[in-house]
Amino acid sequence: MPTDATGQPGKAILFVCLGNICRSPLAEGALRREAARQGLSLTVDSAGTGDWHLGHAPDERAQRAARRHGFDISHLVARQVTPGDFARFDVIYALDRQNLRDLEDLAPAGHRARLCLLSDEIPGRAGGDVSDPYYAKDEKAFDATVADVETAARTIVRRLLSGSDRQGRV
Ligand code: 4NP
Repeated sequence: MPTDATGQPGKAILFVCLGNICRSPLAEGALRREAARQGLSLTVDSAGTGDWHLGHAPDERAQRAARRHGFDISHLVARQVTPGDFARFDVIYALDRQNLRDLEDLAPAGHRARLCLLSDEIPGRAGGDVSDPYYAKDEKAFDATVADVETAARTIVRRLLSGSDRQGRV
C-alpha cells in the first residue's frame, strides 16, 4: 500500500468518464503530476463506463493537450469500470452527471468507494459536468478539460495534505 510523506497509507482514487480516452485519462495524468509535485503518495487510475475503446491509447487530441500542459498520458490504456473498482478505490470521481448515474447503477450493494462528481472539486462548479470534448470541432476544448482537471487535482491534493480527508471526505 502506498504511503504519503507522513507515513499514512495513500488514498486510492479512480476517475470515470464515458470512453476513458479523453477526460478521465487527463484527470489521471493531472492528479498523478500534482501528487508527485507535492510529495503525496496516491493510487490513481481511470476507467470508462463504455466499452468502445477498450485497450486503446487516449485520444490523440487529449495526448497533445496533456503535452501542451507539461504531462504525458500516452502510455495509458482504456479499460471499463469493474465491480471490483467499488471495493479497491476510496473515491470514484465521475466526470459528469451521467457518468455518476451510471456508476450508481453499477455499484454493488454496500460498496466501499465514495462516488462523487469531479466538478465538486472545482470552485463554483459543484454539481455540474466536466464537459465532453470528444465531439468538439475545436481542439481548444481539450485545453478547457485540462484546466478543469488541473484545478480539481490541486483541490484534491491540498485537502489530502491538510488532513481534512479524515473528516470523511476524500
Ligand atoms: P470521454 O470522451 O468520455 O471523455 O473519454 C468520449 C470518448 C469516446 C466517446 C464518447 C466520449 N465515444 O462515443 O466513442
